[in-house]
Amino acid sequence: MLASSQRQLFTGVVADEPANDLHLQPADPAAPEPADLPPTETARDEPDEASYNENGYVEIDPAGFVESYHPPAIDQDFRGKHIVTVEQFGREDLKILFEAAATLKKRIRSGDRGVVEIATGQVLALLFFEASTRTDMSFQAAMLRLGGKVIGASNGIQFSSVYKGEDLPDTVRAAGCYADVISLRHPQVGASYMAAHYLDLLAEKIGRRPVVISAGDGVGEHPTQALLDLFTILESKGTVDGLAITMVGDLKHGRTVHSLAKLLATHGALQTKVNFVSPPSLTMPDSIVRRLQEADITVSETSDLEEVLGRSDVIYWTRVQEERFADQGDYEEVKAGFIMTPAVMGRARRDAILMHPLPRKHEMGGPADHELLDADPRSVYFQQMENGMLVRMALLAKLLRGVHV
Ligand code: NCD
Repeated sequence: MLASSQRQLFTGVVADEPANDLHLQPADPAAPEPADLPPTETARDEPDEASYNENGYVEIDPAGFVESYHPPAIDQDFRGKHIVTVEQFGREDLKILFEAAATLKKRIRSGDRGVVEIATGQVLALLFFEASTRTDMSFQAAMLRLGGKVIGASNGIQFSSVYKGEDLPDTVRAAGCYADVISLRHPQVGASYMAAHYLDLLAEKIGRRPVVISAGDGVGEHPTQALLDLFTILESKGTVDGLAITMVGDLKHGRTVHSLAKLLATHGALQTKVNFVSPPSLTMPDSIVRRLQEADITVSETSDLEEVLGRSDVIYWTRVQEERFADQGDYEEVKAGFIMTPAVMGRARRDAILMHPLPRKHEMGGPADHELLDADPRSVYFQQMENGMLVRMALLAKLLRGVHV
């Protein structure tokens, strides 16, 4: 931080510099927003709760942004919109997105070379503050297959200026200056909302608005995972109407199940039943249960899988999120609560599908169980992975270009 005398000196040096022959058009502060920027909803209700981190930098808790930042509904126009929650998607938006993903799948498989022109000249920046394999690589693959480019801090985000104590708003805006779209994964709930807010402010400075797509906000949401999950359910089952969808495991900390449950509510479903199966200490947050009930989806909660296993059309298995437990002892107590094995699958319906966002650990048994489960035609977690790339391609194409693919 500069002392005030240094700051004055710094200002003076810049002002006294001799004129050179480089003439730049000064930015007009009264200039209207470029026409192709969609309207922004940056209005925030509350002042930020600020605190200082160990480097003395002001740190704002991103959680407050979930309440105060209002992301725009897609409303059939994806162009230039930040993606921070599944609540932004209506049924028609999902139809548009999934049709694009299905078309892209066909176009890639038929070797259609036009696909690489969809995002030519566009840049995706990856800001991943948490571990990732699938989300990270599928975003990269999606952008590259559309003909765009991908950037990230050369030595990983931990060795960017984050290492020097730079805060999230500044790191995000740095990425925004170089990229058209940012994929952000962060351990704190609300980080992508906060990023969206600061990118809106950046737009006022640089005259274009880079968009952020959440790649997972702590225990909050993982919107693009839910999109690929719903796409996979629709691809396998044709509809969500009338299905019994059972989510099992760590429903308290699992952001994928939070987003998937909310997405089922925003998508709307007729006579759909959602079963939540978890140890009593890892139940689905009440607000999400209520959200489903408000959408007329029947919800049951139990810690006994056998109550619902044989009646489930979709079995969505999840990992106990070890990294979210403050106390290792609490994790050890619940980690073996629900283990999917071929024997368990033997009691499931013949036409059920088994889903998992992956990575998997002991909640899917050992390597021998994995092999048998993988060979079961009801397991669709490899399809989920490929669909992740396709749905992210569709989303990038729509956000960046608004095009029909
Ligand atoms: C999930 C995540 O990171 O939330 N993985 C993913 O994105 N496919 C699930 C998990 O880590 O258990």
